[in-house]
Amino acid sequence: MSTERRLRLPGLAYGGDYNPEQWPEEVWAEDMRLMREAGVTIVSVGIFSWALLEPAEGVYDFSRMDKILDLLHENGIAADLATPTASPPAWFFRAHPEALPVDRDGRRLSYGSRQTFCPSSPAYRTAALRIAGEIGRRYADHPALAMWHVHNEYGCHNAECHCDESAAAFRRWLRAKYAGDLDALNHAWGTTFWSQWYYDWDEIIPPRATGAAPNPTHQLDWRRFCSDELLSLFTAERDVLRRATPGIPATTNFMVNFSIEALDYWRWAPELDIVSNDHYLRSTDPESEIDVALCGDLVRSMAGGPWLLMEHSTGAVNWQPVNRAKRPGEMRRNALAHVARGADGIAFFQWRAAKAGAEQWHSSMLPHAGTDSQIWQDVVRLGADLEALAEVRGSTVAADVAFVWDWNARWAMELPSQPSSALRFTDLVRDWYSPLWRAGVAVDFVRPDTDLSPYRLVLAPSLYLIDDAGAANLTSFAERGGTLAVGFHSGAVDDNCHVRTGGYPGAFRDALGVRTDELFPLLPDETRQLTGQVPQDATATQWSERVRLTSAEAIASYVDGSLAGVPAVTRNAHGTGTAWYLATRPDPDTLAALIARIRDEAGVRPVLGTLPDGIEAVRRSGTDADYLFLIDHSGAGADLPAHGVELLTGKPVHGSVVLPAGGAAVVRETHRSQSAQAGTTTPAGSGNR
Ligand code: GAL
Repeated sequence: MSTERRLRLPGLAYGGDYNPEQWPEEVWAEDMRLMREAGVTIVSVGIFSWALLEPAEGVYDFSRMDKILDLLHENGIAADLATPTASPPAWFFRAHPEALPVDRDGRRLSYGSRQTFCPSSPAYRTAALRIAGEIGRRYADHPALAMWHVHNEYGCHNAECHCDESAAAFRRWLRAKYAGDLDALNHAWGTTFWSQWYYDWDEIIPPRATGAAPNPTHQLDWRRFCSDELLSLFTAERDVLRRATPGIPATTNFMVNFSIEALDYWRWAPELDIVSNDHYLRSTDPESEIDVALCGDLVRSMAGGPWLLMEHSTGAVNWQPVNRAKRPGEMRRNALAHVARGADGIAFFQWRAAKAGAEQWHSSMLPHAGTDSQIWQDVVRLGADLEALAEVRGSTVAADVAFVWDWNARWAMELPSQPSSALRFTDLVRDWYSPLWRAGVAVDFVRPDTDLSPYRLVLAPSLYLIDDAGAANLTSFAERGGTLAVGFHSGAVDDNCHVRTGGYPGAFRDALGVRTDELFPLLPDETRQLTGQVPQDATATQWSERVRLTSAEAIASYVDGSLAGVPAVTRNAHGTGTAWYLATRPDPDTLAALIARIRDEAGVRPVLGTLPDGIEAVRRSGTDADYLFLIDHSGAGADLPAHGVELLTGKPVHGSVVLPAGGAAVVRETHRSQSAQAGTTTPAGSGNR
């Protein structure tokens, strides 16, 4: 994060997307009054207002935006001013029909929703930079301007386009990557297979719909290209804005845990002045609080410190099959959990619920029902909470555990033609993350090539693809005394997606002290019994492989099936450290027991002794104080050991803090050593929330 270009607001930022252009001006005064009542400090404006700002090519109408920004400033509310480039107007597509994206089946999409443009379209780029430049220059000195919101969720609806312009851009990207050497590309892609050898760069096209399985490396390079192509749009807009306003920070909102088309945000994050993220709950996720925490840790890790939650919802969204409203207190718990994981600001989509348009059934800070509503009460309360937590701004989370997260590994493992099509990178990471969340163990996410020396334990639940440097970094971490744990089907291919021969798990084989000669993925309804140093009734699903020990010891083995007696979990002394291999997908209790043992042996301590079920515990450390965040997701509440001042109530805490049922407590710690050493905690019975 740039030290020069930062958000200059006191305390924690609070707000949401504000779309006053959707309402008559009479409503705006009420918006201002209610924003002040709720403690809103910043709003994102203009995200989807291109059609109003530029009614015809090169013709601008800033009258409405001028008034909105003036009004915000008069009311002491900062503007996170957007470039409206996520939604080009209809006139643009009529003039440039070639800028509409083409899907992999060759179907050209129509305008009429949003983000329906080809990322490689020169006409789009010109138009986007033009409007960004106009806005940058016009509002450079506006006193409300605090931050640039570039575009909106790059790639949310158009992560890839298969048109001819995209094909040409892909070829340019490939020429640069392979330094103009077509043979190098042929070797990297393995095009001797199925007669795919290319003799001319112009023969190369995007991985469009084809008859049989497409080439894996072709698809992987395509994913990399699509991410870079969108990134180049971001940096181009950012640079236009920087020229106009060298001191104003620029962000764009990430979506770190969305679909397979996701972008490689490790490459994006260093280009942002402030990293921000959008997070939405899945109605079908019974423990979505774990996803909130995982994504928060991931964003903080990419930001290298505090970040902003740019969007989440007060209640239901409108884009899932059934859109669940939040449970009592859930919105507050979500928001405070994001703060606990390093967010220095909390915002929502959106301020006022829309009457019309595609998102009319999406919740908001000010619902259709108005202020006589639970959501409004909760929004006002959250504003007060964030004000009470102002001093946590700038503090961050220190972790002994690193989780390896790599988009290349994720993309590659989820390509077609794998031993099992059931493997999902995010499921496997979530499997391993959950027991650490339950135990209150702080976690960072890292790239395979990150300096691992600050950590005691490195977990790589799913690392199908790994380049040589990343593999060396991870294995030498164990060799030098660290503890490394690796999940099944890892180390299998190099960065060209070529299998590492000589036995699986390729790159990690020697460090793990095992060698697998054949994979035995399990069918969806198959389960295997495990025996050994695992809980009674331990089972495993999804994956098995014929592991032979070369230097490792077996911790668990299969009881049944064709691999009966074969090791399923192993532990190896590697150099002065330890390397574990989980060659299957253990049931949650067994995995929790294994991870507890691994972290114990690695000397990793939880934030706060043993936690009751469903209590989230995280510590943010600042220069002057530490802040212990405790959140009850169980509904039972708890008494937990702490010393200091509980900031949400302002009450002193001497030895124990009452965590109300479904509520939260944030303790500014004065006796950190005591609370960190505290033992088992006790449920508090009925809460007093
Ligand atoms: C986000 C998007 C917002 C809004 C929201 C609804 O992906 O950035 O503009 O559409 O989803 O949940």
